[in-house]
Amino acid sequence: MIILGIETSCDETSAAVVENGKKIYSNIVASQQDLHSRFGGVVPEIACRAHTDTIITVIDKAVAEANIKMSDLDAISVANTPGLIGALLIGLTAAKSLSWILKKPLITVNHLHAHIYASKIEYDDIDYPAISLVVSGGHTSLFLTHSEINFESVGVTIDDAAGEAFDKVGKILGLGYPAGPEIDTLSAKGNERAIQFPRSYLKKGSLDFSFSGIKTAVLYHCMGQDLSKASEMPKLTNQEIADIAASFQEAVIDVLVDKTIFAATKFSTKSIILGGGVACNSRLRQKLTDSAKRRGIPLFYPSKKLCMDNAAMVAGLAFHKYVEKNFSNLEVEAIP
Ligand code: KG4
Ligand code: ZN
Repeated sequence: MIILGIETSCDETSAAVVENGKKIYSNIVASQQDLHSRFGGVVPEIACRAHTDTIITVIDKAVAEANIKMSDLDAISVANTPGLIGALLIGLTAAKSLSWILKKPLITVNHLHAHIYASKIEYDDIDYPAISLVVSGGHTSLFLTHSEINFESVGVTIDDAAGEAFDKVGKILGLGYPAGPEIDTLSAKGNERAIQFPRSYLKKGSLDFSFSGIKTAVLYHCMGQDLSKASEMPKLTNQEIADIAASFQEAVIDVLVDKTIFAATKFSTKSIILGGGVACNSRLRQKLTDSAKRRGIPLFYPSKKLCMDNAAMVAGLAFHKYVEKNFSNLEVEAIP
């Protein structure tokens, strides 16, 4: 079963060809990072134009690199939710057109579920139920995962996503966009105990997240309590920047790890799965590995290329929906 996957939910235009949910023949990712970096975040209009410009080339490349013909495809899959509405629509329209022209089934998948599935591409031995933490630029969610295609949302951020907090704190510290990877690297040179930033756990037992407070705490730490008097960013030494980065990162990761472990225990899960762009973070990987090990729960996370937005995870998950004949018709909509 050879499936084409399409992913355009945010600022990466991606297409992939995957066999039987596992074997990646191609996984082309055209990143728009350079276009958005000078604005310090994703500009939806620019993202849509870039998707429109590149989607056909990216699909052609994925099929060519897989060394197959379009007619060899058994199905067309696409992430139709959640994401930027205009960006999702471009991928969905491409997928619908191909499905109609090639007379192949259309399979729509949830982008966050695909981030969870990414681990399954690289590991065979994931036991369910699993608790899955998806941490990306736009989302921070916990899913009780019953199978490859059965997900129950049990926790979500009530404000900013974890990746968004990394990117916004990076902006305060004068780093580039996206700032997550740079904060990760800088933190290794800093002292994570230098500053006690707040850890927001919300009410007792809550599996929801909140990261807007810590972003403001970093801002006050850098600019002083009275922002109206602060005309410009005070000059920070490299060591001060590294200490702030490390202390911020530690606070975010403590909450992510604690809530994930709490959820794994609460639902007696057999595995923990980590996915999304922030799953590239070395400190998060290390601390979650240590905590999961202490409790004897196996932890799975994919290699970095499959953590970031990519279409292989979409085509992989779609295989399991194909097996269930869970197809979409051409009226299916994009849902932001
Ligand atoms: O999943 P993703 O590629 O796109 C979305 O669906 O949002 O995630 C992108 C996010 C960005 O916020 C970026 O700063 C963050 O992932 N990120 C990281 C690291 N690598 C990427 N955050 C922390 N540490 C990293 N090493
Ligand atoms: Zn994502």
